Amino acid sequence: MTVLNVNGQQHEVDADPRTPLLYVLRDDLKLNAAKFGCGLGQCGACTVLVDHTPVFSCLTPLAAVEGRYVRTVEGLGTIDKPGPVQRAFIEEQSAQCGYCIPGMMMRAQSLLEKNAAPSDAQIREAMAPNLCRCGTQMRILRAVHRAARLMTVEIERPMREAER
Ligand code: FES
Repeated sequence: MTVLNVNGQQHEVDADPRTPLLYVLRDDLKLNAAKFGCGLGQCGACTVLVDHTPVFSCLTPLAAVEGRYVRTVEGLGTIDKPGPVQRAFIEEQSAQCGYCIPGMMMRAQSLLEKNAAPSDAQIREAMAPNLCRCGTQMRILRAVHRAARLMTVEIERPMREAER
């Protein structure tokens, strides 16, 4: 039995420790946001965060994430209350087919946790491992900038209210 912390919840998973994290998320935990694209670490559709770092979950064995903090798009917000990255991607209409978007969102989330106001070049570099075959890269770029602004507002608003 492997104990996993996914999106702040503990799970006990009865699977071979070599099973890719992607399969455990989708098949055992029914968290279907992360997608199977290539299975080879070449497309990024399966990207999730492990201890705040993006990883290809198709290449990450279950044993490697025991006791670590795994996050998926399901952990960024809900349909009723989407998080800043989710809102930004929706507002910029970044999805065409949408298959790459959960991975893109996780990579954007990781970038913005380290760099609150990235430049175009920094966003392009951070997002480079994730591919979009529909060609929505410019909309994704705008979404990451928008998410950065939304996150800044969400951090500053409670500070301003506390000062009143
Ligand atoms: Fe994991 Fe393509 S499915 S990188």
